[in-house]
Amino acid sequence: MKILLLGQNGQVGWELQRSLTPLGELVALDRTGDAARGLCGDLQDLDGLRGTVLTLRPDVIVNAAAHTAVDKAQSEADLARRLNAEAPAALAEAANATGAWLVHYSTDYVFDGSGDRPWVEDAPTGPLNVYGQTKLDGERAIAAAHPRHLILRTSWVYAARGGNFAKTMLRLAADRERLTVIDDQFGAPTGAELIADVTAHAIRQVLQRPQDAGTYHLAAAGETTWNGYARHVIDAARRIKPETALAVQEVAAVPTSAFPTPARRPHNSRLDTTRLQQTFGLRLPAWQQGVDRMLAEIL
Ligand SMILES: NC(=O)c1ccc[n+]([C@@H]2O[C@H](COP(=O)([O-])OP(=O)(O)OC[C@H]3O[C@@H](n4cnc5c(N)ncnc54)[C@H](OP(=O)(O)O)[C@@H]3O)[C@@H](O)[C@H]2O)c1
Repeated sequence: MKILLLGQNGQVGWELQRSLTPLGELVALDRTGDAARGLCGDLQDLDGLRGTVLTLRPDVIVNAAAHTAVDKAQSEADLARRLNAEAPAALAEAANATGAWLVHYSTDYVFDGSGDRPWVEDAPTGPLNVYGQTKLDGERAIAAAHPRHLILRTSWVYAARGGNFAKTMLRLAADRERLTVIDDQFGAPTGAELIADVTAHAIRQVLQRPQDAGTYHLAAAGETTWNGYARHVIDAARRIKPETALAVQEVAAVPTSAFPTPARRPHNSRLDTTRLQQTFGLRLPAWQQGVDRMLAEIL
């Protein structure tokens, strides 16, 4: 089996390089592509993407690249649309022409964040910002162009590699006695490792059972707020590495309105993952498990 991975250096892409390797021949590209082989990895270059799929003829395309800068997307909507909607559409058309499976990631930001119940896959969408709208447009374009797809909507992604919320909280907690962190957005921090591992399992299954194609919610179990997440990180850091010197005494709860941002964010980012767990026979662990593991690696 041949797999084409786009966005190999992103949080999820990096972990996919590991989890997809045992499945077959993996061709992993970042935006610079592989000129020697005539392969394009740039989501801005739609003809290049189509040509890459036609040249390589992979069995599976996994697209982990995206415009993920939520606030920046508000002021560069054309670029966000190109990367999050038009490139996935081009990939889906090329996959349809060659018979490849297309695995793509989307987001809880396709929902409007109302209520307090976890969103099921078929719940009405209503993005609050450009990023969410372009990701939704990408989902729709894929579904319209090519039945052999997996769209995995996830939330609050973190990875040990690169910057993340936990590292920022630990840096601030080292110097400050009081932190203020918002407590009115609810979701589940989800590790890139978990997303990549589940993706590999799901690919194996859909190759045998094409009827399992479709959209699934993939997030760690349980829920918290950014404030609860920050508190957990600080408590876990003190537990995992007691010599960690943290000045912080208080993590104060504030509303989202305390930190105005260009993009509105949903209050309710809870995702109901029942469909994924039942279809693929997988169990999604509590969010704390992956966060503690990541902390043990970085501390
Ligand atoms: N992060 C989250 O909290 C979150 C939440 C829900 C859903 N998701 C979705 O999950 C997926 C993976 O996200 P992630 O957190 O792994 O994102 P990420 O770490 O920001 O990685 C995105 C990747 O896309 C690449 N990229 C940007 N512009 C590109 C272009 N023109 N051509 C090719 N590659 C380009 C980036 O490359 P460079 O490194 O060169 O910039 C980066 O490697 C995305 O579909 C995202 O929408 C993420």
